[in-house]
Amino acid sequence: MLLFREKFPPSWLAKVLSNLPAVLVDHAHLERKAATSALNLEKYRDLFPRVEELNTIAIEELQHFQLVLDLLERRGIPFGQPYPSPWIAGLMKSVRNGARHQVIDHLICCSLIEGRSCEKFQVLARELQSVDAELAKFYAGLVESEGNHYATYLLMAKGIDEAETDRRLDFYLDLDAKLIREPNPLPMLH
Ligand SMILES: [Fe+2]
Ligand SMILES: [Fe+2]
Repeated sequence: MLLFREKFPPSWLAKVLSNLPAVLVDHAHLERKAATSALNLEKYRDLFPRVEELNTIAIEELQHFQLVLDLLERRGIPFGQPYPSPWIAGLMKSVRNGARHQVIDHLICCSLIEGRSCEKFQVLARELQSVDAELAKFYAGLVESEGNHYATYLLMAKGIDEAETDRRLDFYLDLDAKLIREPNPLPMLH
């Protein structure tokens, strides 16, 4: 169950549908970055006991990355340059320093990114059905995995400090609600 307090702007869907090749390249990078994020979390002492779970997530994300690359190849779309997401940068800018603060904030950011992916993939699976059945099926196939990553990261944060996670989640859900309203004209998922 996703906790978001604000819907992404309706202009997002139109932008994605009219720029599918560029969005697929961005999606490939999103999966690549999700794999590196899972590996980056392994640097925190509080997550040393979870290193194998994080490896499993990193492997899943790398498999997603490969699936998107295969899709690009089948469609003759060249792999290209990544663009930074203002929404992700806005979330990550608020990660505090200090061992416990940093790991909890970092996990919450990763969780919200996974959660927004899950939400948007669900919408794409539905909206693409009549336009591009292969892509609709592809997005439908990713929803559960990204939803699990969302929940796993949140539970990892709660496992470290539940009260602090709830407090910071409240802050981050407000920040997400503010940032998600700012339109990003680039053909990106986030
Ligand atoms: Fe993924
Ligand atoms: Fe994921």
